[in-house]
Amino acid sequence: MMKAITGTKDILPDEIGKWRKLEKIVINTFRNYNYKEIRTPVFEETKIFSRGIGESTDIVSKEMYTFLDRSGTSITLKPEMTATVVRALIEHSLYKKNSLNKFFYISPMFRQERPQAGRLRQFHQFGAEAIGSNNPFLDAEMIIIAFRILKQLGLKNISVKINSLGVHQSREKYKKLLREFLADHFNDLSNESKKRFDTNILRIFDSKEEQDQKIMENAPLLIEYLDDESLEHFEKVKISLLDAKIPFEIDPKLVRGLDYYTHTTFEIISSSVGSQSALCGGGRYNGLCKELDGPDLPGVGFAAGIERILLACENEKSLNIDEEKIDLYIVTINPVIYNYAFNLAINFREKNLSVEMDYLNRSLKAQMREANKLNSRYVLIIGGEEFQNNLLVLKNMSNGEQLTVSANDIDKLISLIRGN
Ligand code: HAM
Repeated sequence: MMKAITGTKDILPDEIGKWRKLEKIVINTFRNYNYKEIRTPVFEETKIFSRGIGESTDIVSKEMYTFLDRSGTSITLKPEMTATVVRALIEHSLYKKNSLNKFFYISPMFRQERPQAGRLRQFHQFGAEAIGSNNPFLDAEMIIIAFRILKQLGLKNISVKINSLGVHQSREKYKKLLREFLADHFNDLSNESKKRFDTNILRIFDSKEEQDQKIMENAPLLIEYLDDESLEHFEKVKISLLDAKIPFEIDPKLVRGLDYYTHTTFEIISSSVGSQSALCGGGRYNGLCKELDGPDLPGVGFAAGIERILLACENEKSLNIDEEKIDLYIVTINPVIYNYAFNLAINFREKNLSVEMDYLNRSLKAQMREANKLNSRYVLIIGGEEFQNNLLVLKNMSNGEQLTVSANDIDKLISLIRGN
């Protein structure tokens, strides 16, 4: 049997209700905060990600779907949106039109990770990027939006973790200190962390190995070495979150897996989904625009994993979806009348009603069963005898009431079905 690629998932009609509901909440919340939607291609030139996210990150070094196209260009399926949004902003000079651009997106992403619950190879993110301002209110705004969306989905078991990575210079100074500290423990580090010692030393904080965690317990923390500007920025973010009544904790070990971060980083974690517990993550990236050959503009953003969020909703039973209904099912058993029924159905659909009829030559009983299965609010019965008398029978499926209506009075039928 042919199957979907490991780590990818079909989203079947039964599941679409949850996706639609989530998307509606997302779109509405972003509208409230004045973010404009952006859609970028599914694939980009590889260098956008390798330079944007950083060569030594797991995403770039291990997880990207990269291939040469027929003209020999290195192409990558997008593993995240931030670098592509910044590329689009620069390419279309959007920063000249608006000094501050606030974007949101909902899009598939691709990473060749080991699949498990909540971790896929094609997954979907919604997220936002605000480019053009260094205002700490915007860092707070990102966290508030993400938190509000998760709350509207009914999630309870979530916690917000924040940290500051400061400006580039203070981070480089700190990295030297960390290197000195870890040099004394180098032999006790796991092999993976030994590699990271040279390539991406901050990520040793993310190691799941007990031996690494034990060492890192005593490691110096970046937050204790921040310069005054970074501390002040972080202070303002915290105050804005307190004012907005967003509960948060400071996690000095939250370094995140992408190289572009400066100042604030954050994640929202769920205790309802097992090991893949980060529902969303983000932060400030003041150097990224310049790194991608654009003007030196500050930016901040976040992205959230939709499959992971829906898993949390399922485990918390927090997202109730109304059963799908149709307005009308047209029942007819006389083949001569089929043509009439088909045209009537088209007519009703043009009037914005959702209408179904039988396409399988089923018996009257089977058609009634189908109408029930589809949760049809009304059934229109076009029987032989009534039809000859130019009459149609409309049955209200919730109370069983039947009404006979003249076939000439379609407007009356429509207003009955609409409930006017
Ligand atoms: P990220 O932490 O790599 O950040 O991903 C954000 C979220 O996407 C994660 O918290 C998780 O919910 C979801 N996610 C990531 N990988 C997978 C996967 N393999 N399967 C399912 N869900 C996954 C970014 O992508 C940054 N671009 C966020 C950002 C925007 N920072 C600034 N602006």
